[in-house]
Amino acid sequence: MVKTVLVTGGAGFIGSHTCVELLESNISVICVDDLSNSKQSVVDRIKSITGKELSFHKLNVCDETQLDRIFEMYDIDAVIHFAGYKAVGQSVEKPLMYYQNNLNSTITLLKCMAKHNVNRIVFSSSATVYGVPKVVPMNETADTWCTNPYGWTKYMSEQIIKDWCVATPNASAILLRYFNPIGAHFSGLIGEDPNGIPNNLLPYICQVAAGKLEYLRVFGDDYDTADGTGVRDYIHVVDLAKGHLKALEYIDANKGCQCVNLGTGKGYSVLDVVKAYQTACGIDIPYRIYPRRSGDIATSYADPKKAYELLGWKAERDLNDMCASAYNWQKMNPNGYGD
Ligand code: UFG
Repeated sequence: MVKTVLVTGGAGFIGSHTCVELLESNISVICVDDLSNSKQSVVDRIKSITGKELSFHKLNVCDETQLDRIFEMYDIDAVIHFAGYKAVGQSVEKPLMYYQNNLNSTITLLKCMAKHNVNRIVFSSSATVYGVPKVVPMNETADTWCTNPYGWTKYMSEQIIKDWCVATPNASAILLRYFNPIGAHFSGLIGEDPNGIPNNLLPYICQVAAGKLEYLRVFGDDYDTADGTGVRDYIHVVDLAKGHLKALEYIDANKGCQCVNLGTGKGYSVLDVVKAYQTACGIDIPYRIYPRRSGDIATSYADPKKAYELLGWKAERDLNDMCASAYNWQKMNPNGYGD
């Protein structure tokens, strides 16, 4: 049974929600994070939500000496690997920074795991590995190809883990391909806290709702979709976090490597999200149509069948819950974590 889990990048958006779910399932959590895109106060908030302790260590997963010390200190049963840079646009400007950090961290982690006989890993991958999909919904057998360095780091990390799994006796891995995680914990204590002006749709809408930004720029209304705006599979971050627990149960009982989509199977357009947000929060979201954003695709949504069949997981929260919880987080934390 998995009793103690090392969570890399555990102070981040998805990592913090996953730490909460782990602790609430009575799993001990060792969280490591270099706080390059997250805040120390997240750790206290996780503790106040759950009423449980977790061990936190500030370190970069690429630092083999420091990471090795963590494996020396604790009896780790499995790892959930979130740590990594994640801004698509920045990855195009600074590809080497992305390859160096995101690939080195995966390799260093697997080396430390091997040294300490830890052979179970859940990896935070992304639907970005499907590139421009030929058909939707996308299932796990769809072609993979990426359109930016961030995506390639996910693609290559997946390959590294697959190869490690073949070479390591009794190894088991799940590569979770997330669609578009949004929303926040219902407590309003943890949520998404982007640096500067948000790139992603929901954090941007939240800042328009808060009056920090004047209007939403809708990138393109001439896509081949019902209303012309881009369609995505938005998934509540709490549902996503729960998917990691199901993945842990699976790798505890099974060997080998599997990739699994985490999505709802439903696609919503940008304007659907704007409407849902307005309804859920009772706030008008002004928007203007802008040209398409470079690199965006028209439509992306998951075939989530494998997650249900293999892991017994499916998303339970709807778009209204996602918008309402994101708004609640924004209202309770106008400046994010602010420290
Ligand atoms: N959008 C706008 N205005 C904005 C921001 C976004 O109209 O200010 C639109 C986009 O054009 C797209 C949709 O909203 O149609 C969603 O955009 P996001 O930036 O929120 O999300 P993406 O689908 O572009 O990317 C997300 C993650 C990536 C991940 C990818 C996986 O940010 O890390 O999903 O499919 F790789």
